[in-house]
Amino acid sequence: MIGRLNHVAIAVSNIEVATAVYRDTLGAEVSEKVAQPDHGVSTVFINLPNTKIELLEPLGENSPIAKFLEKNASGGIHHVCYEVDDIKAARDKLVEAGARVLGDGEPKIGAHGKPVLFLHPKDFCGTLTELEEA
Ligand code: CO
Repeated sequence: MIGRLNHVAIAVSNIEVATAVYRDTLGAEVSEKVAQPDHGVSTVFINLPNTKIELLEPLGENSPIAKFLEKNASGGIHHVCYEVDDIKAARDKLVEAGARVLGDGEPKIGAHGKPVLFLHPKDFCGTLTELEEA
């Protein structure tokens, strides 16, 4: 059912410092910083030949990554995102198999302008898992 790895998201408390690590130390191609107020984060994409790294920094009150950064002060892998052809069909199959979808269970438009949803980490090997319709 799942296809390509779309991105690995890394939560950080300072996205400028993290971007510099990827750009200057690791020599990667990085995007501009974009505020995503609907999602409570700012993002920078690191474009790799075969996938992307999504740097996430908290934005505003009640950012969904604030708690994660309290527990992981130096940052860390926050989620992985896999592509699926049909997100609602994938969701229905997973729910039938007992998986929990976060939020109201309906796909939302994500940071790339495509429908996404998140699956409970306890059902997926301790890893918050995002599905994005390709
Ligand atoms: Co993501």
